[in-house]
Amino acid sequence: MGFYVTTPIFYANGRPHFGHAYSTMAADVLARHMRQRGEDVFFLTGTDEHGEPIALAAEKAGITPQELVDRSAVEFRQMVADVGASNDFFIRTTDEGHRVRVQEFVTRVKENGFIYEDDWEGWYCDSCADYIGESDAGPGETCPIHVEEPLRRVAERNWFFRLSAFEDDLERLYAERPDMVLPEFRRNEALGLIRGGLRDISISRSKLTWGIPVPWDPDQVLYVWFDALFNYYTALGYARDGEDLTERFWPFSCHILAKDILKFHAVMWPAFLMAAGLEPPHRMFIHGYLLMGDEKMSKSRGNVLDPFEVIDTYGADALRFYCFREVSFGRDGNVDLEGFRVRYETELANDFGNLASRTLAMVERYRDGVVPDADPEPELAGDFEGAVSALEAFLDELEIGRGLETIWELVRRLNQYVEESKPWELARSETEEDGRRLDSVLYGLAEGLRVVTLMLHPYLPDSSEKLLAAIGQEELALSEFGSRPGGYRVEKTDPLFPKIEAGDRA
Ligand code: MSP
Repeated sequence: MGFYVTTPIFYANGRPHFGHAYSTMAADVLARHMRQRGEDVFFLTGTDEHGEPIALAAEKAGITPQELVDRSAVEFRQMVADVGASNDFFIRTTDEGHRVRVQEFVTRVKENGFIYEDDWEGWYCDSCADYIGESDAGPGETCPIHVEEPLRRVAERNWFFRLSAFEDDLERLYAERPDMVLPEFRRNEALGLIRGGLRDISISRSKLTWGIPVPWDPDQVLYVWFDALFNYYTALGYARDGEDLTERFWPFSCHILAKDILKFHAVMWPAFLMAAGLEPPHRMFIHGYLLMGDEKMSKSRGNVLDPFEVIDTYGADALRFYCFREVSFGRDGNVDLEGFRVRYETELANDFGNLASRTLAMVERYRDGVVPDADPEPELAGDFEGAVSALEAFLDELEIGRGLETIWELVRRLNQYVEESKPWELARSETEEDGRRLDSVLYGLAEGLRVVTLMLHPYLPDSSEKLLAAIGQEELALSEFGSRPGGYRVEKTDPLFPKIEAGDRA
């Protein structure tokens, strides 16, 4: 069974921002962690390039939609690289491989009897690229989400998807698969939508040319969500030349997304798949919003955290760490520059950075750079018992923040152990017993550092790799405390999280 993790594909009409980076970092933590466990992993991200908002944005900019999405895809690829993501493929919905497969699926859905033609008249929001029910339109016919925006009255002959036929199937699916949608309060929200009754949805647009043509009615293009959601499935068919990954990875998917697109993923997507005769996704995790304030809202503009400036100054690891330490994964949470700096200094530089440099320096000073071949003290070994499986259990539940918290308890425990065991006093003593104890203490510290660094690797890919290289740990697989014997040489490293002077600051 593979492990297939995805981010939403991001709209190619905007610039990459913090929210996109956040979902990408979360998916990356999971992908890297599962690779460490020897799982067969595929990590997908990409851009959503069709639809009316993109056609309108291109028109405004005086370029073709293709030119617009080509530029945008470059920016999103750059963002993905900047946050240190290890994605296996970057899908663009303008890919030919995606188009032909979407056309195949929609044809299958029609053959299965779930698509019909009908006239439609109602409200439409350009920004949502969605129809708004009569009862959902805000006062003065504005969009309930884009409250400033007037809705348009539209009348079209369109193709419709029989979403209403799936109420019972969805209800049954949710009962059979209680953890398909996580966290639980989001699952309940989705169930509420299903129980509230589902309306059929229009899946084609007649006045738009920027999209995937409806195969049997080329004057219309597919509604962008019908095209976009299928990316999770189509990519597996053509991401690797000459190899179809579908059997390996579908339905073992884990979709990461935020609450804004819950309805599309938790209600429509499983229904689309069932209608095409395909397995619904294994899992989806709906995370919260990063609340970052804006120029108007934040008291001082100086406290706004720009993720890309942070990456330039402090590196991607620092940003990844801060986000998953600061905000409980699944909930909304505030992020700001001051909070970032505090965690960088107190946790990354002091707790972890110092633990690493102290440990390596003591091995160097007291044992000429060779970790003693000794047994660890039982109390320290006891604190590490079950640590790896605790982390695995959290990440199986996609509890990225709680996983990091368990690792951090160990980091703190190791620092406390340094204070308690006082290696510098043992080193001054002339007795054989203290010499042996120093061997045990240094072994335990080096071993603890090795184990936590491996556990931290998905969160801090760059700095953990530097540190692992310094201790000659080549394998990235998670490893139990006490499983690597001493007798190996370590090297010092430059500080992993250097002090950033005011002038260098983001
Ligand atoms: N193109 C659709 C998704 C199609 S998936 C088949 C789309 N794109 S988007 O560019 O608007 O991205 C929305 C996603 O970006 C959210 O679901 C979330 O993953 C991320 N975020 C956007 N703003 C965010 C925050 N403020 N905080 C956290 N993540 C948010 O919707």
